[in-house]
Amino acid sequence: FGHFVHFEEEVASTQKIALKLAYEGAKEGTLVISELQTAGRGRMGRKWFSPKGTGIWMSLILRPPIPPQKAPQLTLLTAVAICQAIQQVTGIVPDIKWPNDILLNGKKCVGILTELQADPDRVHSVIIGIGVNVNQTVEQFPEDIRTIATSLAIEKGERIKRARLVQEILLQLEKLYHQYLQHGFRPIKLLWEGYAVSIGKKITARTLNGSIKGTALGITDEGLLMLEDEDKHIHYI
Ligand code: BTN
Repeated sequence: FGHFVHFEEEVASTQKIALKLAYEGAKEGTLVISELQTAGRGRMGRKWFSPKGTGIWMSLILRPPIPPQKAPQLTLLTAVAICQAIQQVTGIVPDIKWPNDILLNGKKCVGILTELQADPDRVHSVIIGIGVNVNQTVEQFPEDIRTIATSLAIEKGERIKRARLVQEILLQLEKLYHQYLQHGFRPIKLLWEGYAVSIGKKITARTLNGSIKGTALGITDEGLLMLEDEDKHIHYI
């Protein structure tokens, strides 16, 4: 991955550019990366704070031969790859909070946003957006997210080389992706469950039209969360 790289000093969102490139036929493994995003996008229509020079803001184009229902698996795969890369570069073992937040000491330091271009039976492209808070200091986070967000530098107590981490993330992603195409989701799922903090715990899972409370039982082979509510009904999210 990353043999075709579009580097930009400043963009609205790397995600938007990658979607356009994918639509125009960009090859699998194409990466869009930027120093600064003026309109970084988060999940559920939220914003993603992406200041200049302190984080990794990038979007990767994949073209997996899978139906759209299986796309959530790639989000989980990405979370595992990033955890492995962080572990490799900093020695810190992160936690994954369903579905794809990566936490250090309970605070979020990575967000993943997966978007699809697909027919009902076939994916054309998956755009994997990755935002990593690398070198921000506490003061550099807006006040309203200071208690819930963190950076690798804050947790490690020293600055981290962003280029090294980008390289490691791409390496781990490529490795897991090939493993996934050859052997399916199961090995990835086991790795994911190893990093996950929510399994076996009571959580509130947000859905597009509200939220559901229950105990997280694990994930299905499709990559959906199994949540058991108080009435013992199992929801697949
Ligand atoms: C989340 O809400 O947790 C997902 C955040 C995803 C942020 C990344 S930064 C690079 C890419 N471009 C965007 O506009 N968003 C994603």
